[in-house]
Parts: sequence; C-alpha cells; structure tokens
Amino acid sequence: MRSADGAGRKYARPVAMAQAGTIESVYREQRLFPPPPQFAERARIGSREHYEAMYRRSVEDPEGFWREQASELFWFEPPARVLSWDPPVARWFDGGRTNLAYNCLDRHVTGPSGGHKAALVFEGEPGDVRTLTYRQLLAETSRLANALEALGVRAGDRVGIYMGMIPEAIVAMLACARIGAVHTVIFGGFAAEAVRDRLLDAGARLVITQDAAWRRGRAVPLKAQVDRALQAVPSVERVLVVRRAGVDCAMQPGRDVAWDEMVATMPARHTAPALEAEHPLFILYTSGTTGKPKGVLHTTGGYMVGTWLTARTVFDLRDDDLYWCTADVGWITGHSYVVYGPLAAGATVLVYEGAPDYPAPDRFWSLVERHGVSIFYTAPTAIRAFMRWGEEHPRRHDLSSLRLLGSVGEPINPEAWMWYRRVIGGDRCPIVDTWWQTETGSILIAPLPGATATKPGSCTLPLFGVRPRVLREDGTEAGPDEGGYLVIDGPWPSMARTLWGDPERFRQQYFSRFPGLYFTGDGARRDADGYFWVVGRIDDVVNVSGHRIGTAEIESAIVSHPAVAEAAVVDRPDPLKGQALVAFVTLRAGQTPSPQLREAIAAHVAEQIGKFARPDVVRFADALPKTRSGKIMRRLLRELAAGSEPRGDVTTLEDVSVLAALRQDEE
Ligand code: WTA
Repeated sequence: MRSADGAGRKYARPVAMAQAGTIESVYREQRLFPPPPQFAERARIGSREHYEAMYRRSVEDPEGFWREQASELFWFEPPARVLSWDPPVARWFDGGRTNLAYNCLDRHVTGPSGGHKAALVFEGEPGDVRTLTYRQLLAETSRLANALEALGVRAGDRVGIYMGMIPEAIVAMLACARIGAVHTVIFGGFAAEAVRDRLLDAGARLVITQDAAWRRGRAVPLKAQVDRALQAVPSVERVLVVRRAGVDCAMQPGRDVAWDEMVATMPARHTAPALEAEHPLFILYTSGTTGKPKGVLHTTGGYMVGTWLTARTVFDLRDDDLYWCTADVGWITGHSYVVYGPLAAGATVLVYEGAPDYPAPDRFWSLVERHGVSIFYTAPTAIRAFMRWGEEHPRRHDLSSLRLLGSVGEPINPEAWMWYRRVIGGDRCPIVDTWWQTETGSILIAPLPGATATKPGSCTLPLFGVRPRVLREDGTEAGPDEGGYLVIDGPWPSMARTLWGDPERFRQQYFSRFPGLYFTGDGARRDADGYFWVVGRIDDVVNVSGHRIGTAEIESAIVSHPAVAEAAVVDRPDPLKGQALVAFVTLRAGQTPSPQLREAIAAHVAEQIGKFARPDVVRFADALPKTRSGKIMRRLLRELAAGSEPRGDVTTLEDVSVLAALRQDEE
C-alpha cells in the first residue's frame, strides 16, 4: 500500500474480468488516505491497533463482546443468553427485556444532561426551524404512545407510517417502538397502489400520515394517497393525520383522527413497557427479485445494540456534534441512522424536510453553514448531482464545521469520492463509505474514521463481529482481487430475523445459495490488503438514485397497462443516477407503438409505484429475447440498453431474429 497526497494522482487500470458470472471488477485504485492525526487523537477508536484488538475479540469471543456492548444500554432485565444460531434462525439477547424508545429518550433524560440537549434540529423546506430537546421528544413520543393505546393499538399490532421528513414521523416511529407496535414506514414517494400492497401484506390496523409534504415548493398530498390505498385494506381501522402543509383533506368520520386535536390532549408521561429482546420492532419493505416486495422484519434488542454501536463508532459521535444523515425515514438508512442509532447514542440529529436544490442548488450547504453540521452522511447519487450542479454552490458557504463525511447506498465511484473529499470535506474530513443493507440492519463493512486508512471506492474492513467472505460460484474462497459473491458468515445482532409472513422465502433468498451463510446478493472483491470493494448487485435489483428497486416490480407495473403484453426492465449505467432504467415492451395485438404510448407507459409506472421508478427509456419490441426455457435474457437487453453489441453467448437464445429486430428500434 502506498499513501496518496490527494493531489489527484489516480490510476484506474483495467484488469481482466472476474470469474463469477456477471461480476466484473475493472478498477484498481491505488490511492490511500490515512486518518488525519488530529482526527485520530480525539476519536473513539483512534488507531488501527485499537480496531484490530476489538475486532479480534468480537469474532473470537462474540458472546463476551456483545454482552459487554449490550450492557452499556438500559435493560429492565439483562439478557440470560447472548445468542443462539441455527441458520437461518438467530436469536439475540434472549431473556433480556428492554425498550428501544426508552434507550433513545428516557435514558438521556435521566442521564447527566437531564435531556436538555437537542435531539432533533428540524428545518422545513419553507425555512421553518424547530428544535426538540430529548426531554421534549420524550414528551411528544409519550403523548402519541398514549394516543395510540387509546385508539386500541396493542403490542404486536402493525402501524403504517406514510409521511415526509418531519419530526412527527420520528415521533411516530418512537411511539410505536415504545408500546411494542410494529411500524412499517412506507416511503412518501410511493403511490397509492404500492402503499396498499404494503399495508395489506403487513395487516396494518392504523396508519399515521400527514395532509401533504413540502417538496420543491409544492404541497404533495399524502393523505389523499392513503384514502385511495385504503379502499382495499380492510384491516386499517384508524388514520391519524398530522397537519403539516395546511391543505384541505377529507376526513372520514369514525376513521380519521386529527393529530393536533387528539395527541395534544394526551398526558406527556408514559411508562415504557419491558419488551422481550426478540419482540418485533418494524417491518420494512424492500425489493426482491419477484414483483412482490419483501417485508424485512427486525426485532428489538439486537437491532438496538447494532445500530447504537455502529452509529457511535463509525460516525465517531461526540457530545458536541451536529449529525446529519440526509436519508428519508422511508428507507433503512433513515431508520438506523436518522432515528434509532444516533438517538440511542444521544446525538443531536439534523432533519431536513425538502429537496436539496430548493430553492437553489446550495440548500444543503446553506443548512450545513447555518446550523454548524459536523457530520454529514449522504448517498453517491446525491454527490454526483452536487458535482453536476457545480462547485460554486458549496464554495459559497463556510463548510468548516464539517469533520466527517459518509456515503451509503451504492458503490461510490472514485471520481465522486475525490470530489466529495476535496469540495465538501476541504481535504480535511475522513470519508466513511458504509456498506450494508435493509436486511443487515446496521453497517457491516466500513472504515472507522480514526483508525482505518481509506481507499476511494472501497468500503474497507469489516466492523465488529462481522465475517464477510467473497466466494466463487462453487462456494470456494475467491483469491485476492478476484470477483465473487459477497456473503456474511453470520450471525450479527441487527440481522433481519425473517420476511414477514414468509419464513421459507427468507431461507430461500438468503441462506440457500451457500448453505448456512448469509448471501447478500452483491458482487465484491477483497484486495491484497483485505479491503472490500463492492461492485453492485448481481440479481435483478437495480439501484436508481439510491433507491433499491426490483426490476420485476416495475415489469409488473408496466404489464398492468392495458396496451402491454410483456415487459423486461434492465439497467444502464447513468452518470447521475448510478443506474437508469430501460424498459423493453411488447404490445398487445392491435396496439401500435407511438411516442404518446411511450409516455403513457412511463407515466403508468410513476402512478403505480412512484416517480422515482419511472423508466428513463421505453423501447418497443416485437418480441423479447428468451432462453429455450422461456427466461428473458436480460444480459442481452442490458448490453443493448447500454448501446453496445451483445458480445456474450447467444446459443441459449430461442430465436436469434429477435435480437436483430430489437437493435432496430433504437430511439
Ligand atoms: C448497495 C441501503 C456499495 C448494495 C443501506 C446493497 C452499497 C444495497 C453500499 C442495499 C456501499 C449499499 N457500497 N454498495 N457503501 N451501501 N450498497 O437495502 O448493492 O437499500 O446490497 O440498503 O445497496 O440497499 P438497501
């Protein structure tokens, strides 16, 4: 390894394609950035030796290590047994009783700060600012917990949360966690049909929403989407509506309740019940390789310990930090690193409601400057957008309060990493590139900013208790720099416990490819220094602007358009969004391709799933290339979509003339 001075020397030289199927690994990045000494001196984990000693202990004596970590948090009853593992079934901290909301709130209020420290600093898109101390956040959460109980919600009941980024969304999550209700947060960008499917699958009894959310100066209606969704969800008895944008929305008598009328009248004290460590905490739907979204289930104790420890160590949280993770609470990053991890760690969290370019492309940097943000965590897609908008926007602001930067959600290309470091981090802030998934619950592979030298584009080394491996197709260990399948030799505390209502799919999806090992669905390589480089997903899941979308879901939406017979959606590299979506569509008899139909199909997807899933390109075809067993050959479509001639093997193609015809319909 050699050190780089950051002056822009870098050499990405292509190497041979790796072996494992579609996994390609073509970069060899040489730059190395050791932790700045001033950073390391003050860091929680300030040297490579410290990290290694802790890591070694965590894998050699996991029971001792995790018992010790868990004991830093509050338990009504300490765990009797640290873990039991019978793949795919993991149980952590059995016999222990705790409450995650208590750990995020009461623990700090009864602690030395008395809870007078700010928990949330909120800025709305219109510019309104509101600070809630830990004491105030506890009071709000307690009021809502009382309200939910008064509305008949009991431990184990499911509650849907369909909201924008406002403090009430966080209060809603914490109140559910407090009473043991299982929340399922549905990203506010989803349309009614997607909301319906998720509420139905979860069997939700109550939904918390808001009138509308501010986005680019517009009040985007949310309650109206819930009304549409609920036409087909009989399990939902009540809807609690926060007034945010002040727009009119219909309230159905007997079902809908105004938050400001009910919650405000409730007592601000609520006794947190002692919940079992394995009590279900939340379901979060994520895309799979079929059209049906998977309800990933996380439970209380292990998730709490995992998110708390990683938030503290990866973000090196200190008492005076102002921490900002830009993720929406509708995604796992919002759950683990806007809400539970940082609040369990007692941090002050900035929450911003709106778009990064509203009213101008410098909004984020204006927020950093005005509030004095010290830790900033965002996604590569956002970083690439900032690059495109131009350096002048961050340059206009004093960003010297920043001391640490983070990245999550997809592989970050070295160009974006270097830009982030130089323009946002002033060549001073370490960058933590954090690899993890909805299913892993917390960050599994990432640098510790005071201990790990970083390489642009690598998520570096495993965190405590995590044993990642890169395997070949046949299950043998890939060599250094050889591409393969990323698996985790489990278990770890914050891992998903099952898929809601479908334990068999859980086993099948994650534990059958390599028996006994957790299969991530990602391709990766490990370099000679032991650093991990994740190259992306190897299944039919694409990552568009940081949103993980199953192509099958989009295909189902397209095929539900009356003019469409069949559809195949593939991704194409996109400099801004990471991946762009290209849909190949065959029409029903009697339908003719037209630009209007193209537009209508794209709009239909936006309607069914949400705008973020809208295909960038719709191409009409007479037929789709298929194998003899009838499987669509996505590899060929992917090559066509990227504008290159299909190079690979076409011998399994059922009808070669299909390919020639497809080439002709380029837009
Ligand atoms: C990808 C988001 C490279 C990966 C937390 C993973 C990453 C999927 C990184 C999970 C990273 C996430 N480097 N790839 N640092 N972080 N990914 O469930 O393909 O929305 O499998 O969780 O995002 O997406 P999810």
